Amino acid sequence: MSQYWSEDPVLMIPGPSELHPRVRQVLTGRFYPHYGSEWGEIYWGVEEAVRKIFRTRNEVIVMPGPGCLGLELGVVNVANRGDKVVALTNGFFGDRFAEIASYCAAEVVTLSSPPGYIVSIEALKECLDKNPDAVALIVVQNESATGILNPIPQYVEIAKKRGLFTVVDSISAFGGADLDVDGWGIDVCVGYPNKCLSGVPGALPVSISNEVWERVERGLVHPATWMTNLRVWRWYRRNWASHGHPYPTTVNTYAYLALKVAAEVALEEGLEKRYERHRRMAAAFRAATKAMGLGFVSKNEEYASPTITAIELPPDLRGKIEHIVGKMLRDYRIMISRGIAATEETAIRIGHMGYTASPRFLIPTLTALSETLTSLGYQKCSTGDAVDTFYRALGKLQTG
Ligand SMILES: Cc1ncc(COP(=O)(O)O)c(C=O)c1O
Repeated sequence: MSQYWSEDPVLMIPGPSELHPRVRQVLTGRFYPHYGSEWGEIYWGVEEAVRKIFRTRNEVIVMPGPGCLGLELGVVNVANRGDKVVALTNGFFGDRFAEIASYCAAEVVTLSSPPGYIVSIEALKECLDKNPDAVALIVVQNESATGILNPIPQYVEIAKKRGLFTVVDSISAFGGADLDVDGWGIDVCVGYPNKCLSGVPGALPVSISNEVWERVERGLVHPATWMTNLRVWRWYRRNWASHGHPYPTTVNTYAYLALKVAAEVALEEGLEKRYERHRRMAAAFRAATKAMGLGFVSKNEEYASPTITAIELPPDLRGKIEHIVGKMLRDYRIMISRGIAATEETAIRIGHMGYTASPRFLIPTLTALSETLTSLGYQKCSTGDAVDTFYRALGKLQTG
């Protein structure tokens, strides 16, 4: 069987995702130093492109680092030491965000949902009523651990009405799920280059509202950090922009070039069309996995993630996760992930992000999953029926 499948594994994990072919091209092209007039022009183009994906007029920055660096930057520039921050969580990355805030010496009030659900609007209101001194709300848009898309517009609206700053982790949603930073009123929003944009890691887009910049300018926040201190970033944007170096350190210019191209690819497709593609592919994939007798970590279809499916395995398959993930990689060259934290022993996670949110990648993934489960004696429908279900669901979604 294995000789029919390609050599290089296909990345169907919840990020990093497969590179877009145009991103690969950039990575074999010219290497730029991270400053100078020629590079400066390119850098401003990166900001311009990601600003459109954030849908914002805010001043954005592109940081040389991982997602958590942006989350830390968000926290330390809205909350001072000892300030109270409310963290909403329904999975590992929400918990991680709360942990980051606690390391930044904020007093963190964590509000968790029941497993598989969102934090309800009522629970959030009640929590904010009990904590009128909270200064910020921090929340993950798309929880990569549980495959849940949280209702960010509603959360942000409630928080803004009470005068809180909002910091949103849009890491596994950016470029794959609806986002409207200005329309929703998000203060700090952290995007990502190598999940739904199919770029490479190392260039992190972060959108920062005028209110946050203003507080930084007026010296109302005192981050005990340098790399995540917006005062430092402002200084370089002001004083070194003319040198093509509007950031404090060296950056990996390949990562920035990749982000620019990846964002342009997304914009050429059209954001609405792209979000719709992710929704349709995810829904068809869920329909097919359901036909295979599998369930989901996310218990409410309305909040099912369009970019990551977390499949909850039936009890008889739970001890076999290592085997399932290993066989899919070894025999079919398809890389998926096991669950993480609370779902580590009960779930597998599959990303359908950017370039891979397409039948071209999802059909081989379904086939490999179905054949792998069949080899374990678990078969609720044939592989052919699972594939049929995928296409039928897609057809229905297409015709409305
Ligand atoms: C929702 C979410 N937040 C945060 C992170 C952490 O990103 P990084 O490892 O780049 O810091 C991830 C990574 O998978 C994620 O999916």
